[in-house]
Amino acid sequence: MSTYERIVILTGAGLSAESGLATFRDKDGVWAKYDYREVATPEGFARNPSLVHDFYNMRRRSLASVKPNAAHIALACLEQKHKGQVLIVTQNVDNLHEAAGSQNLIHMHGELLKVFCIHCRMGCSWADDLSTDLACPSCDKTGGMRPDIVWFGEMPYRMGDIGDALAEADLFISIGTSGNVYPAAGFVAEARANGAHTIELNLEPSEGVSYFAEAIHGPATRIVPAFVDKLLGI
Ligand code: OAD
Repeated sequence: MSTYERIVILTGAGLSAESGLATFRDKDGVWAKYDYREVATPEGFARNPSLVHDFYNMRRRSLASVKPNAAHIALACLEQKHKGQVLIVTQNVDNLHEAAGSQNLIHMHGELLKVFCIHCRMGCSWADDLSTDLACPSCDKTGGMRPDIVWFGEMPYRMGDIGDALAEADLFISIGTSGNVYPAAGFVAEARANGAHTIELNLEPSEGVSYFAEAIHGPATRIVPAFVDKLLGI
């Protein structure tokens, strides 16, 4: 089956669910407990930065106790063994792809383990809590350190690189994402218009399932390793 030269894989929260991280739109997901306007918009941060810090501090801390699951590991193995190119574009802000060993990876929605200063734009890796009285290590102003997360109303990262990869891909795979959030939800149509074969791997049919040429439904830790083995001809 591995006749594909260039594979682009879009991943979402469903991939990390079996590692113990909550998804967003499932019934006990993050957006059932928190109002995204309060914790995931620049306006929410301006209104109540402490609340936003509490939300991301909790999520950043939770990374210490989670590990990549069989699906993350299978994708890292695909990148290592596949003769062509494999790019993972993740909407996830956790670090489980890199912990599994994936290297060609774009965090289009940012990373919990990175921060930047809204005053001087200095960005850096950050494993500790953030607070409103923290001074920026670069410009020394307080109150401007924020999580390097793409909030609603902000532009996802590296859209040019992602567009180039989608233009060249001959296989596009979407894993563990509900297809609710653009621009990621539109990648399948873009890849398909450029001639790629398209496959959805998700627990259940996503919003955009009809855009895919093929779909496999089930938990990621079961269906992703099986799919990767098939792709590699194992
Ligand atoms: P969602 O919570 O919207 O969707 C998760 C998808 O994963 C759903 O379709 C579930 O059915 C599926 N799923 C759940 N458990 C699974 C499992 N064990 N195996 C396979 N699939 C499973 O999460 P995303 O689509 O990632 O953005 O959400 C996209 C963006 O919306 C996030 O990056 C986040 C959120 O607002 C920001 O915060 C900027």
